[in-house]
Amino acid sequence: MNKINSKGLLTGAIIALYVLCNVSFTKAQDVIIPIETKENALVLQVTPDKLLNMVYFGSKLSDKNEYAALAKLYQFGGTIGTYNNAYTTAGTRNLMEPAIAVTHADGNKSLELKYVNHTVTKINDDVSLLSISLKDSVYDFEVTLNYQTYYNEDVTEQWSVIKHHEKKDVVLNKYASANLCIHANSYWLKHYHGDWAKEMRPEEEQLNHGLKTLDSKLGSRADLFQPPVFMVSLNKPATEDEGEVMYGNLEWSGNFRIDLEVDPANNLRLIAGINNFAADYNLKAGVEFATPKFVYTLTNKGKGEASRNLQTWARKYKIVDGNGSRLTLLNNWESTYFDFNEDKLAGLLKDTKKLGVDLFLLDDGWFGNKYPRNGDHAGLGDWQTNKAKLPNDIAFLTKEAKANDVKFGIWIEPEMVNPKSELYEKHPDWVVKQPQRPEIYMRNQLVLDLSNPKVQDFVFGVVDNLFVKNPDLAYIKWDCNSIIFNAYSAYEKNQSNFYTDYVLGLYKVLDRIRAKYPKVPLMLCSGGGGRVDYGALKYFTEYWPSDNTEPIERIFIQWEYSYFYPAIASSNHVTDWGKQPIKFRVDVAMMGKLGFDIVIGKLKPAELAFCQGAVNTYKQFSEEIWHGDQYRLQDPRENDVASIMYVDPAKTTAIMFNYLVNNRYQAGTHEPLRLKGLNPDKTYTISEVNVFPGTRSTITEATYTGKFLMTIGINPDVSEHRASVLIAVKEN
Ligand code: GLA
Repeated sequence: MNKINSKGLLTGAIIALYVLCNVSFTKAQDVIIPIETKENALVLQVTPDKLLNMVYFGSKLSDKNEYAALAKLYQFGGTIGTYNNAYTTAGTRNLMEPAIAVTHADGNKSLELKYVNHTVTKINDDVSLLSISLKDSVYDFEVTLNYQTYYNEDVTEQWSVIKHHEKKDVVLNKYASANLCIHANSYWLKHYHGDWAKEMRPEEEQLNHGLKTLDSKLGSRADLFQPPVFMVSLNKPATEDEGEVMYGNLEWSGNFRIDLEVDPANNLRLIAGINNFAADYNLKAGVEFATPKFVYTLTNKGKGEASRNLQTWARKYKIVDGNGSRLTLLNNWESTYFDFNEDKLAGLLKDTKKLGVDLFLLDDGWFGNKYPRNGDHAGLGDWQTNKAKLPNDIAFLTKEAKANDVKFGIWIEPEMVNPKSELYEKHPDWVVKQPQRPEIYMRNQLVLDLSNPKVQDFVFGVVDNLFVKNPDLAYIKWDCNSIIFNAYSAYEKNQSNFYTDYVLGLYKVLDRIRAKYPKVPLMLCSGGGGRVDYGALKYFTEYWPSDNTEPIERIFIQWEYSYFYPAIASSNHVTDWGKQPIKFRVDVAMMGKLGFDIVIGKLKPAELAFCQGAVNTYKQFSEEIWHGDQYRLQDPRENDVASIMYVDPAKTTAIMFNYLVNNRYQAGTHEPLRLKGLNPDKTYTISEVNVFPGTRSTITEATYTGKFLMTIGINPDVSEHRASVLIAVKEN
């Protein structure tokens, strides 16, 4: 590996290093470290006294030598000189919110990290990793800051690795992943709040001086009230196509904490990481603690571009099989709940075939014998097939699925336990609960202690046994319905390690599952969207955005998730929630990964024919929806009609979704909506698809240039009589 020390003495492959990290030196021996992607630069500076500061994050400059001038142009350091530290410490000079705070083995709480060296590793043409080593001069304590850049996507993942060689454990009182310092005139934060069935409700506000913290203390279903995603617009709120905006997402499926502080010098100090609430981490000497990654992207071309950057990155590098295909499905949760048997399920497998989707997904209720899972109050933890409902085991269902030429998938919630279960009776010490206090339940259940390796083995076994016993099992929906009350682990020696070790334990299990079953589709569900983050999505092919499937609600929920996550990962099921006709419900589900959770037998012939046709249409356009570029055309929060489109990378085919979200008099589209992302020089034919049998489209098939479609647009003619309209755009 290449190394450079603070005096600029190079060791290793000098030329390669110089080219890769573009180190420059000012006369005062400052080391300048620019981290460049296609459009941006994040610039770090090592001061003569070896502090590492951040001096720029914005559009990259054409002459790299000019980065050296940046530090002097702004009041970055402020009165106490530490506002822009690249990883702010506590207990010495800094008095601002720290990124790291520790208690050394001798009880001392001071830390000052100084630059030692840095290396750049080029992973491939797109991906590079910059690692900067920092050390305390008094204690044998070190931190490596990592910046992994994805050049073409303008995305950076940042994390730190913490290590010490002190005589006893060091306690990490705060241990953030990333610490950024950004300078603009003003900052506009868009963040989200929610609850069950109310996921991803946005709020946008100007950040004033002081500290704003986004956080979760819920433990397992950590995003129930607030997810770890946000965007910050610089200077003014960015629009879809204009303005400077940064998106951030902490890749951590547990308690998180994101501090946004406008400091006295008007910098935005951003610190993102694991929440240190009740989570002082005891770190043994010689053990490396790697924080989760904080992923971010910056653009000066508005929110749409930022989304496409993150979506492309996610498909390419993060979610499982992001460039692959997905299985359309029929789920039985809302059509049967816990009430089913072999006959009923055999009928549903036939319906799966009839509908034309790829897979039948059996939901909750198939397990537990001593305490049968006939409701949500018993059986969780006892993963044996319920003999009364399924006397011939799961094998009966995989066989039936095969006979119908469809695939079979199953629901599990392996991290959880009902007090009424054999698992609880056998292993009360595996359950997260206070030994001397009454139990507190969410959905009548408790959380298993994943910090305990035996519990990790058990949870891995739940999945592994299913696949070993049923080699044809093609899909798993992994649920997580409870938050953690009464946080206490019978296993942990240091209780304050528990929250962090829980998530690390979950990841160990998921790592094992993915090592053995690398590509099998797994849906990430958490009583709806209680766990949607890139830490978890690394292991999953898709997520369940919300139990709320009322289609108007879903338009808003799916819309907001779409800023951060690609459509291929959004499981959208058609259900009976709400009063909208089947066409509207199907059209809404088609803007992501399509599924159904309705009783097929109850559909009228025209409705069934429509659904069958829609599954075919979906297959025709799945390339655009799954792997294409997404363009939001009209925001449902600002218009009567929500409009969004997907274009394949070659710009040959696109599909545009339009939905009425307002039922006031004459609400609808009265003018053309401009399309985006097409090739202005190509000609395209426009036609309506997913037309309900027996009705006529009001859109005349016609040919236009891309230029026309992007300058003038087309009117999809959405009205109360045509509440959802899908338009196909095909190159001639
Ligand atoms: C959660 C999920 C639902 C369903 C039920 C089953 O609420 O979000 O989709 O699987 O559990 O109990």
